[in-house]
Amino acid sequence: MTRHELPALPYDYDALHPWIDEQTMRLHHDYHHRRWVDELNAAQDRLVAAWQSGDALLIRHFQRLVAFYQSEHALHGLFWETMGPNQGGQPSGDLADQITQDFGSFGALKSRFSRVANSIETAGWAVLVWQPGHWQLAIMSGESYRLQTGASGTALLALDVWEHAYYLRYQHRRAEYVHNWWNTVNWPRVAERFAAGTRSGLRSHERARSNHRHAPRRNAPDLPLASRDRSVLDGGPENADRRR
Ligand SMILES: [Fe+2]
Repeated sequence: MTRHELPALPYDYDALHPWIDEQTMRLHHDYHHRRWVDELNAAQDRLVAAWQSGDALLIRHFQRLVAFYQSEHALHGLFWETMGPNQGGQPSGDLADQITQDFGSFGALKSRFSRVANSIETAGWAVLVWQPGHWQLAIMSGESYRLQTGASGTALLALDVWEHAYYLRYQHRRAEYVHNWWNTVNWPRVAERFAAGTRSGLRSHERARSNHRHAPRRNAPDLPLASRDRSVLDGGPENADRRR
């Protein structure tokens, strides 16, 4: 099985100041994300052993663990990748047009995404997902082990609302963290992921796009995060390369 490694941060630990503090970034990346990677590798080893033993219960147990750790590893990689210093602002180009079509406006997307992030109980993620099957953006949310399969697609942007992501700086004020996090979003990178997602789905969904491009929907769904849906979290091989 593939051995997973902790990706390097694509910027300095203090690069997101004042929105996310250096100590939080160090602990979050060097301890928490590393832990998910180590646990993922260990769970994979245990899964192989379970396969060899033929114990169906153990196989199911470690399959669930591998799926969970793999999700956390992928989402953290996306989280680092889609933030950056001196970012924020608004998307432009095709991504901006798609946001307007699916949510009505960029402001409406921010409001809905923030509401989803703030409404997650205990720990979890809010993720903006491109769904080529529907030729539509969607907001997904997930809470740790209780994630349910929602829909497939390409994850474009992820916000970590586990307490370890913000508690040192913001304590219980998650809404303030979510509000400030928008100042770190690397929209050019998100747009690259969107472009890759639309390219990969273009041929099979050309007709759907043609049918829908002239009619603003403004009804993009909020969905539970598909934790075990690797297609959502991986976002294709070129995106996996970018996370390194
Ligand atoms: Fe995290």
